[in-house]
Amino acid sequence: MSQMAENFGPQGLLIVGNLPFLDPQLHSHFANLAKMYGPILSLLLGGKISIVISSTDMAHELLKENDVIFANRDVPTVVTVMEYGGHDIVFTLYRPKWRMLKKCMRDMLGHTTFDAFYSYRKQEIRNTIKYLNDLKGSPVNVDGNEKASIGAKFRQMLVEITDLMGKRNISNFFPSLYWLDLQGMKKQMKGTIVKLVRIVEFDRESKDFLQVLLQLRTGGATKTPLTMNHIKVLLVVCMVVGGTDKTSTMVEFAMAKMMYKPQVMIKAQQELDTVIGRDSLAEESYKGKLPYLKAIMKEVLWLHPVLPLMNRVPKGARMFVNVWAIHRDPAIWKHSMEFILERFLIDKEDHSGNDFSYLPFGSGRRSCAGLAMAKRIVMLSLALLVHCFDWKLPTGRKKMPLVAVPMP
Ligand code: HEM
Repeated sequence: MSQMAENFGPQGLLIVGNLPFLDPQLHSHFANLAKMYGPILSLLLGGKISIVISSTDMAHELLKENDVIFANRDVPTVVTVMEYGGHDIVFTLYRPKWRMLKKCMRDMLGHTTFDAFYSYRKQEIRNTIKYLNDLKGSPVNVDGNEKASIGAKFRQMLVEITDLMGKRNISNFFPSLYWLDLQGMKKQMKGTIVKLVRIVEFDRESKDFLQVLLQLRTGGATKTPLTMNHIKVLLVVCMVVGGTDKTSTMVEFAMAKMMYKPQVMIKAQQELDTVIGRDSLAEESYKGKLPYLKAIMKEVLWLHPVLPLMNRVPKGARMFVNVWAIHRDPAIWKHSMEFILERFLIDKEDHSGNDFSYLPFGSGRRSCAGLAMAKRIVMLSLALLVHCFDWKLPTGRKKMPLVAVPMP
């Protein structure tokens, strides 16, 4: 594969290859290169060949036909600080330990466990609604995380971690320079992770998930032993870092889209009024009955995939599936740069990764372990935010985090 790909792509410089020419918005930069060089292109980034796939057919070949060969990910060097020596499910190699962690995630997020925590989840989201109600008429952060200082700090840390993982770090391309920590990212990551672990230890919902994990540990439910380090990683990295930031980003994007297209918000409110009524609050049990709101979620997942470049590593190379470009393939998607959610009102749902033109949660063995949880949380949050308030954008606002005014 790497030999074939070496023939396709822009010429780079000696040693550093194409690195100096990369645009910070890698997904759109790669999409533009794909227009020139085709749906498979190769770049030399630092010492390694990187192959970028930008078509549905190739994504199918890679993620379905050759799923096992491409079942590993490239580990950003800063991550080695946060994963307690390699226990993290997202970056761990496709080996028995990964299977054990994935099983634990399935047990933690299975319908029974997840349903058992519904009352906490509902209470948390309703607390946010109450907080917004107290502040109606004033600008607020739409994700509600400013409501307590701990929430604001928490969100700030997640943003820091996600930024550090996504930043162009010289030691990702030249691993021999890692120990020098030239950009100070390793040190920064270490500090943030320690603070985050402290907060999570006080978080109530995590403690309930902790109970499930402790039962798995004592019950010997997995062949590979589940250590306390695994438990910390499952809670902190997989649940908190992996999940929280992505779901709140999705809610923010969806709210922003509706504020720019007020007719969409009005239609969503009409649907909620009809299905739930003006005097009741949305519950997770309504999820199958709100096709318009669901289409908003699907459209936002399609237009703004949280992982626009999915990363896989075959031996000796680095591989990116450009989900952002695939979602904009004009041969498959009409008006592929626009927010037209009617396309998802008629389409059948497939978040499972079997439709290779729609991959917001990835595909194959390494697809998102929190899919069901994410969909439930995003739907419930959107339903409550839109049903309880009208929203408008204040003047002179920042783009992110989204600040808006809830109106009664
Ligand atoms: C809207 C919210 C979310 C989106 C869009 C999303 C998307 C993704 C994507 C694209 C991947 C990579 C898939 C691949 O490489 O094929 C992934 C992996 C993962 N996600 Fe999510 N995710 C979300 C929420 C969550 C939540 C809430 C959790 C946990 C509670 C979670 C846990 C994970 C884990 C553990 C992995 C790694 C799985 C593995 O490597 O085996 N995600 N997610």
